Amino acid sequence: MVNNFPPLIARIKQEGKCLAGGVLKVDSFVNHQLDPDFLMLMAEEFNHRFVPQSYDKIITIEASGIAHAVMLGYLTNKKVVFAKKKKPSTMDQSHMLTTEVYSFTKNITQHICLSREFIRAGERVLFIDDFLANGKAAQGILDLVQQAQATLVGMGFIIEKSFQDGGKNLRQQQIHVESLASIASLDNNTITLAQ
Ligand code: G4P
Repeated sequence: MVNNFPPLIARIKQEGKCLAGGVLKVDSFVNHQLDPDFLMLMAEEFNHRFVPQSYDKIITIEASGIAHAVMLGYLTNKKVVFAKKKKPSTMDQSHMLTTEVYSFTKNITQHICLSREFIRAGERVLFIDDFLANGKAAQGILDLVQQAQATLVGMGFIIEKSFQDGGKNLRQQQIHVESLASIASLDNNTITLAQ
């Protein structure tokens, strides 16, 4: 169900720009410059949508998801773990979980990884990220969480592009998906919200 968060919608309308290929540029408050007060407002909204007692940790992925996840972690006093896009030389091989993520936007396949030390069997985790487009990153996170024998309790996104298939695919898997803004179209240089 679409549940657009009015302060975010106002900001997208004011500062968002449509780029070619169905890309929304929101560098001034999501992907480059960050506004901590506004990040906290969005974290509070996530905190209304996901009961904090239902999860133990927050998981995200490099790079833009981290700030959003940390704000929610600060608010709920929970640890935040981010999946890495490069295998760290310091990570013990025996602890490492990996999976492949294909990016349609960049047309590349990346290996993302996570240490078993930080997501343990039986833990309940909430995934937070900035964009939901094709959902490949989210699917990769689900794979890592399952490999760790942990439980995914939900996925929260700042902006969902509902004209791409990610949200539909995740919801078909009975995943609790919440997006603070759903964009139905970026055609004709116009931001059209999902209703
Ligand atoms: P998917 O993860 O949903 O499958 O999406 P896709 O492969 O299409 O997206 C790849 C990257 O592009 C992701 O960031 C995603 O957040 C970002 N992205 C997708 N659509 C948009 C958009 O309309 N606007 C902006 N600004 N970004 C978009 P990334 O490169 O993996 O990570 P990061 O380092 O930027 O966080």
